[in-house]
Amino acid sequence: MRTFLAARQLVFTFDLTLRCSLIANTARSFSTSSPKMASHAHAVVRPLAKRDPNTLSNYDAWRMKHTTADLEVDFDAKSLKGVVHLTLQRLAEEQKIVLDTSFLDVHSVSVGGKDVKFEVASARIEPYGSPLTIDLGEKPTSDEVTLSIGMQTTKDCTALQWLTPAQTSNKKHPYMFSQCQAIHARSLFPCQDTPDVKATYTFNLRSPLPVLASGLPTGSKDYRPSKDGKSGTLLYTFHQAIPMPSYLFAVASGDLASASIGPRSTVWTGPEELKACQWEFEEDTEKYIQAAESIVYPYTWTTYNVLVLPPSFPYGGMENPTFTFATPTLISGDRQNVDVVAHELAHSWSGNLVSAGSWQHFWLNEGWTVYLERRIQGAIHGGDQVRDFSAIIGWKALSDSIAQFGEDHEFTKLVQNLEGKDPDDAFSSVPYEKGFTFLYYLEKLVGISKFDKFIPHYFTTFKEKSLDSYEFKECLLSFFASDAEASKQLETIDWDMWFYKPGFPLKPDFDTTLADQCYDLAAKWEALNDGKSDFKPSAKDIETFNANQSVVFLEKVQSFAKPLSPELSKLMGETYAYASSQNVEVVSRYLVIGLKADDKSAYEPAVELLGKVGRMKFVRPLFRELIIRDKDLAQKTLEKNKDFYHPICRGMMEKMFNRLG
Ligand code: BES
Ligand code: ZN
Repeated sequence: MRTFLAARQLVFTFDLTLRCSLIANTARSFSTSSPKMASHAHAVVRPLAKRDPNTLSNYDAWRMKHTTADLEVDFDAKSLKGVVHLTLQRLAEEQKIVLDTSFLDVHSVSVGGKDVKFEVASARIEPYGSPLTIDLGEKPTSDEVTLSIGMQTTKDCTALQWLTPAQTSNKKHPYMFSQCQAIHARSLFPCQDTPDVKATYTFNLRSPLPVLASGLPTGSKDYRPSKDGKSGTLLYTFHQAIPMPSYLFAVASGDLASASIGPRSTVWTGPEELKACQWEFEEDTEKYIQAAESIVYPYTWTTYNVLVLPPSFPYGGMENPTFTFATPTLISGDRQNVDVVAHELAHSWSGNLVSAGSWQHFWLNEGWTVYLERRIQGAIHGGDQVRDFSAIIGWKALSDSIAQFGEDHEFTKLVQNLEGKDPDDAFSSVPYEKGFTFLYYLEKLVGISKFDKFIPHYFTTFKEKSLDSYEFKECLLSFFASDAEASKQLETIDWDMWFYKPGFPLKPDFDTTLADQCYDLAAKWEALNDGKSDFKPSAKDIETFNANQSVVFLEKVQSFAKPLSPELSKLMGETYAYASSQNVEVVSRYLVIGLKADDKSAYEPAVELLGKVGRMKFVRPLFRELIIRDKDLAQKTLEKNKDFYHPICRGMMEKMFNRLG
């Protein structure tokens, strides 16, 4: 208990250091224009309540309550421009408001029509951007203020990708979309870019093409014809009445069509892809919602929709409220990748309603979501065997992440110190799978029927709030305080170990029935590869496998001590039709085996896939193997596709190339 408290204080101490340097920095930036204000900044004593080290905002003094974004989508200039109105509430005697910005042009700041002084720090504080400091003047006004900030995004904006018509599937119209998690919202609009602050949102977005945003659509209006024979524009409006953190701010605009995938669900995508997308999701979406509702409580965001993006979307899915953003690699024609929808839907409770207070406690978002996702899958598709099979895949992903970081690395802890760090660099399977493993362990410890009662309690306690791991612990212990038996079981938890020990957690005893068939087949290939067997592979071997079983088989083969011979790699691709699979989960893993085997026939399809899919989950392992085996080819591939990749993915690839190349 004591160590646990000490560690908690440590986090706050780090935080204090950062904040002091921020105050000093603010003072410096003002000292040239107004020395009086500089001394004022030093006099301020703030309560120690800011627990997120990855924001430069003073959200402990002022807190965002509502944001109205009046923005125009300018496809020619590749910029979002206009005015954002931020309503903030005062929490301390502080006349300055510090907001996060990153590569943003801020033209003006006004309050009630009157311009106020503002300054964007001239030097960036990496990796957090350039704080915008707004001075409200000497005398405290009211306890609530609405800032109107004139701004536009720049070409360096990390949250947006702009596609030319030639880069879209039907080549007819341009396209744009955002991805704000973890700390990219600040490159879209000035904000308190921390999951510790939640606000309601109004989106008024003008565009020549249909727009979606992370709120409920309230219509389109106010058509404006355009000059020069260009398309006219409409004002698309949305409202998000449930307070949400800035990282869930989302917008997309392009040639979009929609089709129903359930009584409260619609899929949006390009007109040519619509039918295939509808087929992929219509079977399961409503079932998932109902299963989640019976595990937690009713869905509160009114509708649950999916936007299927162009292939450069860097993630599998992103849980933007009302509209999950999803990669088109889910559309494999076999409904084998819809588990991503179960995952993003589960975020409607874990992450979107109940949020981690900083990225240091990211497991509260992702660990809980993976836990709920697997409960949903188990409820719909056949119970514990299915759930544990998915957990076995997760354990392998965890092992890979731990191997890549190293067993002692900070980022292999459940609760991580991200002081001075970019949360994107810490991103891995660790918060997902260590978080899941912890919740699974707690479920087994108290028993599932008791844990089932805790789930709605937890999600009610922190509904529309943000929390950290210590509040989670308190909530769990107090819920079971009146249950002597459960309390005794909970006393055995080594909290320090779970929160702060790097590397592997305790391994649960998974039901391996479904995985065993995959391992058995892999063992046959290993013996064959070692010259110890005369096994004759045939298509029959995988006749009963679903795509996930092929994934488990392929991952086992990837981890052979001795890589497959080029001949066997080729044989596998042909015999099991993995080389020609339409399922990217399968073909990408097969190609990693091919590259590891130095099978010459794998290079071309690997490079081709890297030019077709920008989802980092697939790009990362393929590109890594390519760098190790053929640096020149890796460089050429990156160069050729640099406009295709999303800025986040491109940045990740450049970092990897510099590290390994
Ligand atoms: N919220 C994440 C994606 C994310 C995390 C984006 C951190 C940026 C920073 C999303 O819910 C997610 O986990 N997506 C997974 C889906 C999978 C676990 C089913 C993905 O993209 O692969
Ligand atoms: Zn997630």
